[in-house]
Amino acid sequence: MAEPRPKACIHLPLAPDLAARVDAVCEARQVPFGAPREELLAALADVEGLLLSNQVYVDASVYDAAPRLRVVAGFGVGYDRFDVEEATRRGIAICNTPEVVTVPVADMTIGLIIALSRRLFQNQAYVRSGGWARRERPPAAGFDLSGKTLGVIGFGRIGTEVTRRAQPFGVRTIFNDLFQEPPADAPRIPYRPLDTLLGEADIVTLHVDLNPTSHHLIGARELGLMKPTAYLINTSRGPVVERTALLAALQEGAIAGAALDVLEKEPPDPDDPLVALPNFVGFPHMGTATGETRRAMAELTVSNLVAVLQGERPPACVNPEVLG
Ligand code: 8YV
Repeated sequence: MAEPRPKACIHLPLAPDLAARVDAVCEARQVPFGAPREELLAALADVEGLLLSNQVYVDASVYDAAPRLRVVAGFGVGYDRFDVEEATRRGIAICNTPEVVTVPVADMTIGLIIALSRRLFQNQAYVRSGGWARRERPPAAGFDLSGKTLGVIGFGRIGTEVTRRAQPFGVRTIFNDLFQEPPADAPRIPYRPLDTLLGEADIVTLHVDLNPTSHHLIGARELGLMKPTAYLINTSRGPVVERTALLAALQEGAIAGAALDVLEKEPPDPDDPLVALPNFVGFPHMGTATGETRRAMAELTVSNLVAVLQGERPPACVNPEVLG
């Protein structure tokens, strides 16, 4: 008699060809993305694989509901919402999608650097509101990137790629991380302690992952160390920046402005004063939102799921020690 196929729960829409790849290996059950958590938990009793967005909290309540679980295949590089320690204790592989998100997030960061330095959002609003048509004033003047200092906090894959892309603009780049030597394959740029970097940079960009050390890494004290002419960019995780401290800093003009693709609360409250400030620009967590990247992420998520269910090594696993 043929071995029964492993069961998996798919909690994310998949393109038909990717759904077929899953179906070829296991008996897949769909729980629509956005369904109540109870519905997800109720669907897990006999599953060995779970494929879902990394925006869903995966903790002991999920593991308890899925006693046969062998793999969580998360859509995204970040795994701050997954309890990896508990998964490792239970022998569950936690998989993510690292390399494929590096370039789009770095590209978006460079886009924000250029947009801030040339006041693109402000000047676009001037045209759209009819200000230019009424000849109200000259365009808001920006600043040259050449000769300015970019402070990269978090010098991993994305921070490194941002640095590579910034260098041809003549930007001087410095970095801060838990290590002081650039990784072997990274540009040889100087390390600075966090406080020094904050005081030196004209633009500070955040590329750390979210963990207890980086939670509220940038608060009132850190914002106070930045130049009043400096900008803050965050394309990493919202809670790295303390929202209330940023709100105050922008209201008081302690820094020139901020561009955030991620917020402490996503989506923000409709009346959040932060998103309405003139020196703030916000985006809906879209650093990886290109057709090609989302496709590559979905492919890698499926590859991770089916590899573990077939007893093979998944392409990207954050706790490989469980793989044996
Ligand atoms: C989101 C991301 O995962 O890769 C990450 O960690 O933050 C993004 O790619 C994506 O928006 C899906 O939730």
